[in-house]
Amino acid sequence: MLEISRLVSGYSGIEIVRGVSLKVEKGEVLFVVGRNGVGKTTLLKTVVGHIRPVSGRIVIDGLDVTGWPPHAISRLGVGYVPQDRSIFTRLTVEENLRLAEGLNGEILREAFRLFPELEPLRYRRGGELSGGEQQILAVARALASRPKLFVMDEPATGLAPPMVRRIVEVVKRFTGRGASAIIAEQNPALVFQLADRIALMMDGEIAGIIMRDRLAESQQLLRSVLGLSYQDRL
Ligand SMILES: Nc1ncnc2c1ncn2[C@@H]1O[C@H](COP(=O)(O)OP(=O)(O)OP(=O)(O)O)[C@@H](O)[C@H]1O
Ligand SMILES: [Mg+2]
Repeated sequence: MLEISRLVSGYSGIEIVRGVSLKVEKGEVLFVVGRNGVGKTTLLKTVVGHIRPVSGRIVIDGLDVTGWPPHAISRLGVGYVPQDRSIFTRLTVEENLRLAEGLNGEILREAFRLFPELEPLRYRRGGELSGGEQQILAVARALASRPKLFVMDEPATGLAPPMVRRIVEVVKRFTGRGASAIIAEQNPALVFQLADRIALMMDGEIAGIIMRDRLAESQQLLRSVLGLSYQDRL
């Protein structure tokens, strides 16, 4: 579904992502974890077209999309939850959702069906939502158009456990239907419940990959790198 090869990218001459190769299969959830500033967000922004790579290749569903603009990548069925959420603060929840895919009532119903807690907030402005509510709105906006690839940058930030469980449930439902996800995240509940594989990022490179069946035995490593503990998984 997603194949990243020898990707180099960054900001005006500064290389942040330094030769990353990763694959996400159909139906798979890959987490990218690593300390602050290692380049997780830069990697995801490059995948969705917000940053043009210096070199390397990005293939989505068999199509070489390297250098494509964000709207073209989004149209392929790629849902993106940015780390800064990018909610329009002066628009209502409903308007924010409608903007995701033009004026489409279907998307709106789907968003409220996936995240019923958003419906009572429908006419509230984005700027009047709590941080957690904004986060849910950003996730709902990305998932409601039923993308085949989710790209999520710390979707569980600021969320109480019931909402983290809701995200787990929704992502599982989508991957069960063959969708794939690449998620940068530090929240242990999300990582341990959803990860098929975990890519450890260090200093712009992938230092290692942990498979799902090795999570328990790798917890020492995960704890030392991230402060994650297998015991924290719920
Ligand atoms: N717009 C920008 N211009 C220049 N440098 C940037 C820009 N955005 C990020 N950087 C730098 O790129 C490096 C990687 O940042 P990035 O946001 O990709 O890290 P991250 O792994 O997502 O961190 P975090 O866990 O804090 O979200 C950092 O040194 C950061 O200061
Ligand atoms: Mg980040």
